[in-house]
Amino acid sequence: MSDNLCIVVLGASGDLAFKKTYPALFGLYKNGFLPVRTQIVGYARSSIDLDDFKKRISSKIKIANATEGQALTQFLEKCYYTNGAYDKPESFIKLNAFVQNLEGGVTGARHRVFYMALPPSVFIPASKGLKNHLYTTRGSNRLVVEKPFGKDFDSSKELSKALAESWHEDEIYRIDHYLGKEMVKNLMVIRFANIFFSAVWNRFYIDNVQITFKEKIGTEGRGGYFDEFGIIRDIMQNHLLQILTIVAMEKPVSLDAEHVRDEKVKVLRAMTPLAVEDVLLGQYTASADGSVPGYLEDPGVPKDSVTPTYAAAVFNINNERWSGVPFILKAGKALNEAKAEVRIQFQDVPGNIYGNVGRNELVIRVQPNEAVYVKFMNKQPGLSANPIMSELDLSYHSRYNEPKIPDAYESLILDVLKGDKSNFVRDDELDEAWKLFTPLLHKIEGEKIAPKKYQFGTRGPEGVDDFVAKHGYQRHHEYEWTPSKI
Ligand code: BG6
Repeated sequence: MSDNLCIVVLGASGDLAFKKTYPALFGLYKNGFLPVRTQIVGYARSSIDLDDFKKRISSKIKIANATEGQALTQFLEKCYYTNGAYDKPESFIKLNAFVQNLEGGVTGARHRVFYMALPPSVFIPASKGLKNHLYTTRGSNRLVVEKPFGKDFDSSKELSKALAESWHEDEIYRIDHYLGKEMVKNLMVIRFANIFFSAVWNRFYIDNVQITFKEKIGTEGRGGYFDEFGIIRDIMQNHLLQILTIVAMEKPVSLDAEHVRDEKVKVLRAMTPLAVEDVLLGQYTASADGSVPGYLEDPGVPKDSVTPTYAAAVFNINNERWSGVPFILKAGKALNEAKAEVRIQFQDVPGNIYGNVGRNELVIRVQPNEAVYVKFMNKQPGLSANPIMSELDLSYHSRYNEPKIPDAYESLILDVLKGDKSNFVRDDELDEAWKLFTPLLHKIEGEKIAPKKYQFGTRGPEGVDDFVAKHGYQRHHEYEWTPSKI
């Protein structure tokens, strides 16, 4: 985009915009990835003084040195703010005039990116207002949308239909920020650029796959929002399922976005919707010392809520590559640690002549301390002939000199500017994802199935270890990987 670019951030006074969108835009600016003629227009209902708005943007941006401080000053010069409604044509007409005025006498193309950091209630009117009054015929138009994309198959379909009345699928960028994470982006390279992995990436060698998301914090302050959605919609149906599709898909014909997304959809189509027997649900209670309140004590949460804050689920993929290999997804808040990882456990060594031999595992640590490591057996150094478990460890912080790992949003917004849709969710992908979870969600909610309680700061509800063991995972008790020192 060497021409004029206007990025309109709708919902600019909200948390998402300040915490994610603006810092990501600044990251792109400071690394020289925003076109020279870029304006960023914040838009929200409340009237905010431009200087105050800029102060709020700055407050969420970390500055490492004087050069970055200078860059921030220059970046803020590109930021504007105007307010208006999300459902009134006149507000959008006014917004268009504001944008046109900034574009001024620019010659050449005028591209517009509309970033909707908005609550679902105003999603549709805002997308229509943008199409009717801000759609430019002098350049490209791109609409970036953030979850939640509905609450189940029907509501998501309704949303997609309403969006499709104004916007062409090609112009829509549905963000799942996990697709912008460095190690999630790395999954395809690991799989398709290494012959030794591709040879064993199937049911003949892999016993089970676990994809885990753990967070230490509870729902603090977000209880009202969270209770409507729960951990399955918040993390599993989107972030973890997206990772699963990349781990399981066939090699795409090319890196073309549609080729990649075609393969992801095929995986989803080969999966069976979850039944209640396939899941383990949990909800956290107060911390042991009582200092952190339990989920039901969160002010926004009804006292009798059965919304899960923890879930483990197992999927089977009914295709030639994966038939019989359990894919276990685990997601929880208020746990003992924060991490996200993919753990591929291989089968036992056939005809084992050593006795105590643990299984090989390939682990892709998404966060924190990005790493790829393989657990493998090695002869104990010295006079002993015993095998011990060790690791081949590619820890980013020790292997790469100060690796510059971009924030997921930074990477995804850059993709939007480049028009690369491979890391965004396509409408049919979304449909298939909802099909897998909707019957379960309706059953849990319809029958008010109670989750098992677990204490804040623990490993989750009782039964998690049995759940993963039942689906084939074997823990090697004598070994724990310690990340290389940063
Ligand atoms: C969001 C969820 O999509 O992802 C949050 O709504 C969760 O509940 C967050 O905390 C986790 O993202 P990250 O990037 O911090 O792992």
